[in-house]
Amino acid sequence: MLKGKTILLGVTGGIAAYKAAILCSRLVQAGANVRVIMTQSATKFITPLTLQTLSRHPVYLDTFDEKDPSVVAHIDLADHADLIIVAPATANIIGKMANGLADDMLSTTLLAATSPIIVAPAMNVHMYEHPAVVANIQTLASRGVRFVEPGTGQLACGYVAKGRLAEPEDIVAAAERLFRQGELLAGRRVLVTAGGTVERLDPVRFLTNDSSGRMGFAIAEAARNMGAEVVLVAGRTEGMPPAGVELVHARSAAEMLDAVVARFDEADIVVKAAAVADYRPAAASDRKIKKSGDTMTLELVKTTDILQELGARKTRQFLVGFAAETGDIEKYAMDKLQRKIAILSWRTTSRRKGRASTSIRISCKFMIVADSWPICR
Ligand code: CTP
Repeated sequence: MLKGKTILLGVTGGIAAYKAAILCSRLVQAGANVRVIMTQSATKFITPLTLQTLSRHPVYLDTFDEKDPSVVAHIDLADHADLIIVAPATANIIGKMANGLADDMLSTTLLAATSPIIVAPAMNVHMYEHPAVVANIQTLASRGVRFVEPGTGQLACGYVAKGRLAEPEDIVAAAERLFRQGELLAGRRVLVTAGGTVERLDPVRFLTNDSSGRMGFAIAEAARNMGAEVVLVAGRTEGMPPAGVELVHARSAAEMLDAVVARFDEADIVVKAAAVADYRPAAASDRKIKKSGDTMTLELVKTTDILQELGARKTRQFLVGFAAETGDIEKYAMDKLQRKIAILSWRTTSRRKGRASTSIRISCKFMIVADSWPICR
């Protein structure tokens, strides 16, 4: 997977910098064209000559040390990288990346990069668990940066805890996985819905549900990582949606229906992870509803079942729905599968029913996962 790929290896100043030599060597052995940028701190732990010898290319240290006048080095390196690996990554470089700082060759190149980035942190366990570092890692992850988690073991500072740089082989494996994954859905259009819908009662109140949208976000992110062009139609959600996807906001079931139907024809795969309201208020008041009397009755009307609508319109699309249940999961999931998206294939559905009930299953016909069951055809 790495043969012929240009990999930029960023080495920062931690004791694990010596392992960057092994990583560099493994990447070169795997056929990659490796370019190395070191921070000044990294040079305190390992010499540029080591990495120059192993990568067979000059090592970059200084943003202003322009070796080739025909290019601007940090832009040129960023533009030509198929992948950037930062290993070891200190808390400092992670903080700079999360905050868009560019004050040396590595951080400047990272800011100019559009390629995928893998970060392999290595630091003291308390630093790794510091809320600032945790938040920076989350920020980067939400932007699509992949992490190879540090291992647990003897740290240079004396602790036996989490913080050791992942083994070079694991970092190489992560890079290979990334390239392999990146091709699985290349050229495919994936439409994902996420979150709960919001059905307005009046300007200050609405009906909604507990959906956080995280499952839809995770699916959208995974599809993006597999090379798909992803549209994410999001209702009410928590947390940050993944980067690198087209984000469409749709608050109510009606807005979500419009957003999804408008994009359905061009989609290859549709994953309906959103928790769509089944009913909405018959009328939304444009003024705050005042309280009166001891009880109140709301009149609700049914919303359009988006999944069922898509099931009826489906031509070539691979359609995935979910069954959120509190009991009798299989029975209800199978019922939804048949009602919403397997109307045309009763025989197929019933033949596969026994197999589907066992555990997680993904097939070209349908997929069911316990608790919240994806159903697809
Ligand atoms: N769904 C939809 N439009 C609706 C209701 C549900 O597209 N108006 C989709 C959901 O996105 C999900 C699937 O249908 O993929 C099943 O949703 P779920 O809430 O489990 O079931 P319902 O069909 O709403 O039925 P019930 O609430 O009675 O279980």
